[in-house]
Amino acid sequence: KQDTLMKHIDGETHFPYRFENVEKKAQEVLPKEAFDYIQSGAGREETLSNNRTSLEQVKIVPRMLQNVGNIDLSVKLFGNTYKQPVFLAPIGMQKLAHPEAELATVRAAKKHGVPMIVSTASTFSLEEIAKEVPDHPLWYQIYWNERHPDVSINMAVRAEQAGYDAIVVTVDTVLIGWRERDLENQFSPLKAGYGLANFKNDEAFMSHLDGTDDDTIVRGIVENFAHPTLNWKDIEKIKKATGLPVIVKGILDPEDARFALEHGVDGIIVSNHGGRQLDGVIGSAEALPTIVEEINGQIPVLFDGGIRRGADVVKALALGADAVLVGRPFMYGLAIDGENGVSNVLEHLLSDLHVSAGLAGSPDVRTLKALKTRK
Ligand code: FNR
Repeated sequence: KQDTLMKHIDGETHFPYRFENVEKKAQEVLPKEAFDYIQSGAGREETLSNNRTSLEQVKIVPRMLQNVGNIDLSVKLFGNTYKQPVFLAPIGMQKLAHPEAELATVRAAKKHGVPMIVSTASTFSLEEIAKEVPDHPLWYQIYWNERHPDVSINMAVRAEQAGYDAIVVTVDTVLIGWRERDLENQFSPLKAGYGLANFKNDEAFMSHLDGTDDDTIVRGIVENFAHPTLNWKDIEKIKKATGLPVIVKGILDPEDARFALEHGVDGIIVSNHGGRQLDGVIGSAEALPTIVEEINGQIPVLFDGGIRRGADVVKALALGADAVLVGRPFMYGLAIDGENGVSNVLEHLLSDLHVSAGLAGSPDVRTLKALKTRK
């Protein structure tokens, strides 16, 4: 890292992967419906915009003369040490962006020591992804199937057997968001055949279907994704089903954070699903301090929504997050140039993060978390 940190003042280092360029370029190379699926939010996209606005309202109060000669932003979570406080958010359907999809993404993630959270809706199976990067840390994200809990329990078992470190249960998708641009484009990635990989050969899942054709599988997955009667009691079931830490993703109200704690959850991700679920929702960065206060250090709190640059990561950690997830930027990199594209996006973000942490006077995650902020 130190090399990159010094080189960026030599006028020769070429970093074309600014977020705005990457987004624009991805729009040029992707079919309209694929780009819209990735970029858009629900409704009139207020939540999407609240994520950026709430981050922009946070001002860092930097510290001076703290000796930042040796910056190490590794973070310990659930007994594992991760090289960066930055994770790849679970994003399904990555073949929408590139044929090598999650395999390209995870190779780039490994190169930069960035753990990846694999989505239930991945286009390679969770086992294929794990095999691609032996010894690289992975978490697995589940949409809890409350109608057939054995399906979710079996997926958690598969993830544990494949060497995943943790299970993320996404709780903000009891119904699928009203995504107007997808509705306008008449686009359903599932119907187009994406996102079947973890289900197709899953015995528990297939045992509930009355056919093995793709249409029947898609119908089964749709029922799996939307889980309107899901409630806190279901979380206890998955806690019992796996020895891995269970993290709930999609918490915005401190009272829900308290419920999560009371139901034995091991970690929380403050998130509004990148503005793709309920529109008009509080920006993630506005919700974060209230959750951090409620949890008061008892379990890790992670954050996502609108992270685009190093200073955004600094802000989230200064507000009390232990680590962040980044979503759309790596999907744009993937669309542009597969593994190399994801790698360039990460190189850009992480180099910026290291410069930003140093300038804030924070050589490690502990000092980043101790930074003050103002609105
Ligand atoms: C997502 N997200 C998501 N979340 C999840 O738990 N499971 C999933 O399968 C998906 N799939 C998905 C697809 C696409 C195209 C996007 C853009 C997002 C939400 C994701 O994990 C994360 O919460 C947000 O993307 C974070 O916001 P930013 O970084 O994209 O602003």
